[in-house]
Amino acid sequence: MNSPWEHKRFAEESLRRIDAAFLPGTSQEVDFLEKTLGVAPQARILDLGCGAGRHAIEFASRGYRVVGVDISPWLLDAARQRAAAAGVEITCLQGNVAHLRTLLGQTAAFDGAIAICESGIGVLGGWKADLAFLEAVKAVLKPRGRFVLTTYNGLRRYRKWEEGDERFCFVRGIQHWETPPDWGGEERLVEEQRLYIPSELRMLLEMAGFEEVAIYGCAPGSFQGQPLRIDDIEMMAVGTA
Ligand SMILES: C[S@@+](CC[C@H](N)C(=O)[O-])C[C@H]1O[C@@H](n2cnc3c(N)ncnc32)[C@H](O)[C@@H]1O
Repeated sequence: MNSPWEHKRFAEESLRRIDAAFLPGTSQEVDFLEKTLGVAPQARILDLGCGAGRHAIEFASRGYRVVGVDISPWLLDAARQRAAAAGVEITCLQGNVAHLRTLLGQTAAFDGAIAICESGIGVLGGWKADLAFLEAVKAVLKPRGRFVLTTYNGLRRYRKWEEGDERFCFVRGIQHWETPPDWGGEERLVEEQRLYIPSELRMLLEMAGFEEVAIYGCAPGSFQGQPLRIDDIEMMAVGTA
């Protein structure tokens, strides 16, 4: 299945929304990520689904060595341009995080990894593919390296489901998503996303071999390690390799 992010128009429209809604909170988020990953400048950070590089560039400007991976060539172009404008270097790799081991090679070793804001997990083709992705992330982390991801809080979707709503299959936990007819692109883009409830996400990380797994609430510009509330849109998971 092609990802909507591989379409230029979709990527550009999405970037406009990300810049408006999320960019201003990035510095606070990186403050929290630095602390939670337990890293210091010069450490190697892997940013999965890095998009236009808002976290990657902020980390690099603080002295970290950053590799960003993203499926969208358009967003990676934006990341390269923004890094150059900020006077920092980041390494950008284009590809699907489902093929992380091939993309990074067998010798990759990172001090910490992040996947913020729906950046892979859930859209890779089901829980087995998500598990394989998490195993690959664990394999490229140094011992005791930490991984922080944020994704939709499936609990909220289950609670909002109503009779006749066919966009969410609550038995399989799959959300069907498509661009509205008037979205402006030539073709309609569709995506099936596996939404996890917190206990499933915790279990998946533990199955992948992560330890000390914790689930928190989070909102743009408000990463505090706060308790997850049942109707939060997003949740955060932290695991130690
Ligand atoms: C909502 S954006 C978030 C971008 C960035 N992490 C941020 O917080 O600004 C989701 C990102 O995940 C990327 N993405 C989605 N599926 C992916 C996949 N299978 N492999 C690599 N990147 C993916 C998209 O291209 C997009 O840049």
